[in-house]
Parts: sequence; structure tokens; C-alpha cells
Amino acid sequence: MNILVLGSGGREHALAWKLAQSPLCTRLFIAPGNPGTAQLGQNLPFGVNDFAAVEAAVRSHSVAMVVVGPEDPIVNGIWDYMEAAHLRSSFGPQWLGTIGPSAQAAQLEGSKAFSKKFMQRHRIPTAGYAEFTADNYDAGQAYLASHALPIVLKADGLAAGKGVVICQSHQEAETVFADMILSKQFGDASSRVVVEQFLDGVEVSVFALTDGKTYKIVGHAKDYKRIGLGDTGLNTGGMGCVSPVPFAQGAFMQKVIDRIVEPTINGLATDGLVYKGWVFFGLINVGGEPMVIEYNCRLGDPETEVVLPRLQSDLVQLLAEMLRGNLMHCTVETDERAAATVVVVSGGYPGVYPKGIPITGLPIPQDQSAIVFHAGTSTSAQGRLQTNGGRVLALTALGHSVAHAAQVSKALAAQVQFEGAYFRTDIGYEFS
Ligand code: AMP
Ligand code: GLY
Repeated sequence: MNILVLGSGGREHALAWKLAQSPLCTRLFIAPGNPGTAQLGQNLPFGVNDFAAVEAAVRSHSVAMVVVGPEDPIVNGIWDYMEAAHLRSSFGPQWLGTIGPSAQAAQLEGSKAFSKKFMQRHRIPTAGYAEFTADNYDAGQAYLASHALPIVLKADGLAAGKGVVICQSHQEAETVFADMILSKQFGDASSRVVVEQFLDGVEVSVFALTDGKTYKIVGHAKDYKRIGLGDTGLNTGGMGCVSPVPFAQGAFMQKVIDRIVEPTINGLATDGLVYKGWVFFGLINVGGEPMVIEYNCRLGDPETEVVLPRLQSDLVQLLAEMLRGNLMHCTVETDERAAATVVVVSGGYPGVYPKGIPITGLPIPQDQSAIVFHAGTSTSAQGRLQTNGGRVLALTALGHSVAHAAQVSKALAAQVQFEGAYFRTDIGYEFS
């Protein structure tokens, strides 16, 4: 079958890499893709939110399924758009569907208030909260004044991973609250603010595939979000990942399934939320008890760069069977080996950084246990590889332990050369 992947980062390169390995994949298209995905299929020149272009590509290339990488098109309703387009004029007998929830269900990621209400309704463990807008602004400031420290403030809508602020003082909370609601720091996304209790623990992301009724857990990972060594400094999209996470097994994982995954999938069904895609459970281990920090309606980046290399099952088959309603009959096999990825970023990231810097020293893996994923790269007019984003490359390695995989992936990252290149040398530090 022909498959279209939407996106242009490391996650989408990893998706394309895994999909291309399947004997079921005939032609692979990636829009807009990057120089890494161009080696696996055909890049198409349109953006992820150009739904009319997605529809046209599905028609002209007889695509059977659209695999969506980032959250934007999902929250903007690509699933609904494609369903309506197919109903209006059939895409053809090969068409299976779009991997992603409906726009209504995507509010689990698109609105923090929606997801908190969902968790409360279905008794899913999460931090206590309250929500405020300009209409009850004064009540919000009074609520903050009596709240225990630290205080977590979250813009309700999508804010490119920057909408969460953990405030260490009441004064800071007051200022951030005013900035979000009154000064619209994150535009409409912060016209509503969720105020949350702070949870202390180690985070882990669990990934499931669901058709809205049943589910399969596909993998899990720990992301390193801060720019600096030892988890210090500004938040980024993710500087590296490891999988497996030692505590995410046995009794802890059973609690995750019983208290979080199953109530979530059952909740989707009871609430009539149409969902045919990935659920990213952003969890925190609070003294052995899992709690939900957030839901995302997509795979993580760079989590995908460690989760898919460990997935031994055929991803095309898994996605196609999910869309056909046969997910319960699928099995998910995982590589026993550990995986780590180290992200090489542009100098200045996550702040301002230059683009178009020539890249040399790209590692040439000797076997399947090392993979170079392109994240923010492009090809110059002269055909040279150059930087094109904050996160430039994700270097993944498989190894006999997390420490071993991290060691190899760090050595791969060290080979990459471009002016200002930076990477964290301590990915997986707690597990070595
Ligand atoms: P989110 O955008 O919801 O993923 O939040 C970004 C990050 O903020 C999370 O990955 C956590 O590190 C942190 N965070 C969010 N909510 C809380 C909370 N209630 N307690 C502690 N940390 C949190
Ligand atoms: N790495 C975090 C995310 O994809 O949201």
C-alpha cells in the first residue's frame, strides 16, 4: 500500500524509517519531509496544515493511509477533514484512513481544561487543579495566594511546549498568571489558565495505539527536556531519550494499565470520542504511584527515535489492522535491547539560533544498531547538508543496557560537526 507521512522532524524520519521496512509498504511519501526522509521515499512540497494538498496527494498517489506526526494538524481537525473528503468523493478501495483522533478527541491535547475534566470524570489520577479566565480573574489571584508552592500554571491551548510555567513564589505565580490571561502571552491559548498542584517524581512517557475501544502499548521512554547537564536550564522539545526506563515495568506498569490506560480508553468509548491513533501518556512516578501530567494525541519527539527502533512488529500491519478494526488480534514485539538517542542542536537553541550552517561528519553506521535521524536539516542550493532548525539530528543507538546505548549514541553525536553544535553528554545519567 502507499503511505503518506506528515511532518519534517526526527519523529517523522523515524516513522518513515520504520514504515519503509515493511513489505506491505509499496510507495512512501513524506510531506514536507527532510533530507533523511528523502532517502526512504518521496518528499512532497507542502505543509502539514495544508489539508487540501493532503487530500490531493491521497487522490493522485492512491494513498491508503495518512500517518500524522505533529499535533497541529491533528488538533486542527485533519481526521475530520479527510473523512468528509472521502465521503464526498471516495479516495478509492485502497483507502484505510488517517492515523489520528477526531478534532473533538484531540482536545485531550489541545485543551488542558478539557483533559483535566476528562480525567476527573473517569477517575484517572492526576494533579488537583482549577481553571480561570478573564471572567474570574480576581478569584484566580486569590486562589493563587493560598496555593502551596511550587505552583504549576498552564496555558489551556497549544503553545509549542512553552505553555507550562512552574512558579517557585506567589509573586512569580501572580505575574505569570497576569501575563497569560491579561497580556495574552500565548495568544488565545492562554486566555484560559489551568492552575495545578506540583507533582514531584520521575517522568516517563507511555505510548499506546488505540481504535477508541481497544489498545496496544507500543513502547515507553524517558525524555530529557532541559537544555543543560543534570536537567538544568531552559525547557526544549527534548534533548535525548532512553528506553526502557527501569521502573516502568512489573507492578508499576500494571498500575499504569489498570488506573490510567484502560480508564482512558474506556472513557473515550463512553464519551463517544472517535479516536484512531496514538495516545501519548505523559506520566510521573510519585513514590511508586503513576499520575498523568498530560495527554498528547501523537508520538513524542525524540521518544519516537527510541521507541520505533525497539519495536520489532511490522508498523504498517499494526496501523492498517487498527484502521480495519482488528487491533485486538495484533501482537506487539519489542527488542530486548535498550535504545538511547542524543539530539544535536543549533547554538542558541531553545532561544534564537541561525539556520543554513553547513554540517559535516555525519556518522555512517556500520550496522543496524546505530541510526542517524534528521530533525532540522535541509539541502543547500549546492546540494550540501545544512542546519534548518533548533534540533538538527538525533543519533540513536541500541545496546545491551541503557548506559551502553547512551554511550554509543553520545559517540555518534560527537562525530557531527557544525558551527555552534551542542548536545547533552549525560542522557540516561540516572540509569548508568
Ligand atoms: P506539559 O506541557 O503539560 O508536558 O508540561 C511540561 C512539563 O512541565 C512536564 O513535562 C513536566 O516536567 C512539567 N509539569 C507539568 N505539570 C506538572 C505538575 N503538575 N507537576 C510537576 N511538573 C509538571
Ligand atoms: N518530547 C516531548 C514531546 O514530544 O511532547
